[in-house]
Amino acid sequence: MSSSTADIIGREDPNDLDAILGITNTDVNEIIHDVNASVDTLFTWNYERSRPALSKLYEKAKTSQWNVTTDLDWSIDVDQEKEVGNTPGIGMAVQAGLIDLSQTPVGHWGKKEWTNFEIESSNWSLSQFLHGEQGALLCTARIVETVPWIDAKYYAATQVMDEARHVEVFGRYLYEKMSSQYPINAHLRMLLDDIVSDSRWDITYLGMQIMVEGLALAAFGFMHMLTQEPLLKKLLRYVMSDEARHVAFGVLSLQEFYQGLNQAEIRERQEFAFEAALRMRDRFLQQEVWERQGVNPIEVIRFMRENGPQGDDPFQHMLFSKIVPNCKKLGLLDAGDGWLRERFTEIGVIQFEDWADTGEEYESLDEVAKDRAAS
Ligand SMILES: [Fe+2]
Ligand SMILES: [Fe+2]
Repeated sequence: MSSSTADIIGREDPNDLDAILGITNTDVNEIIHDVNASVDTLFTWNYERSRPALSKLYEKAKTSQWNVTTDLDWSIDVDQEKEVGNTPGIGMAVQAGLIDLSQTPVGHWGKKEWTNFEIESSNWSLSQFLHGEQGALLCTARIVETVPWIDAKYYAATQVMDEARHVEVFGRYLYEKMSSQYPINAHLRMLLDDIVSDSRWDITYLGMQIMVEGLALAAFGFMHMLTQEPLLKKLLRYVMSDEARHVAFGVLSLQEFYQGLNQAEIRERQEFAFEAALRMRDRFLQQEVWERQGVNPIEVIRFMRENGPQGDDPFQHMLFSKIVPNCKKLGLLDAGDGWLRERFTEIGVIQFEDWADTGEEYESLDEVAKDRAAS
């Protein structure tokens, strides 16, 4: 039985801005966020190494570990104002006359307000990366427990260490080098809740390894390309080396598993992928940043949507440049009646379907090994 868009994401129109911005966290003052889950913990007595691609990935993971404390230069001083002045952003575009927001509540903003907005925007982005990394840490710990294959348990254990390192590195950068922090975005939190409350082990993979990590890899790539700040640049290079392996792990594992699923089961995975895609798209509206500046986000965001170059943000589309080819490689795009292809077409991201998938890319992205070979 297939579901409607309303069943999948709780609203009929995926682009309903009032509904999207109406979603907020209710437990923002709590330290602990508790999600109930019932999963099967699987032992396997088959220790045979029968999956060479996963074995190879595991060997790579063991030799490409790095240390947040000693491999990065934490004495570097970060000047956020200078940094945002060097980085293209919405404030720069408005001041250059490329975007006209004069009819919105930020029409009177000058250089000072926009600089402040851009600083807060980068604080917000790093905060969301940090929370997403914790999601990855918990999901991979779960995968160690629930995946039935020994090669996958071995590999996932290395990823748990990688993700702990990512939480550590983003947490340290955010709290030592940046001026403020933000709680988890409600859409990202809902997606992580959905992933960790699902009892099917492959859904943990699909949600985290393919969707969240695929988007993270694209987003880190952007930030790495744009930033001039040497500490952030190096830490992103190293994090991306790890993330490329993580996405490969998802692609290699699910490719095998999906071959054994029937059409109805594949459709459930397509629907989950679509829900995850929308949650991730919605999390990038930065509503909390506008709110912290005393601006009602809906007025500015609606104006930009209706008057932007394509009525929508091409930057947001680029975030799907890894996810769409990976879904295609897994057969999710065209399975059944091509349902997911239609949905990805509707949200404007299908053009990435033939971009490089991430099954093998990790070898060329191993920046840690490159630096070691050079020194
Ligand atoms: Fe990570
Ligand atoms: Fe990861």
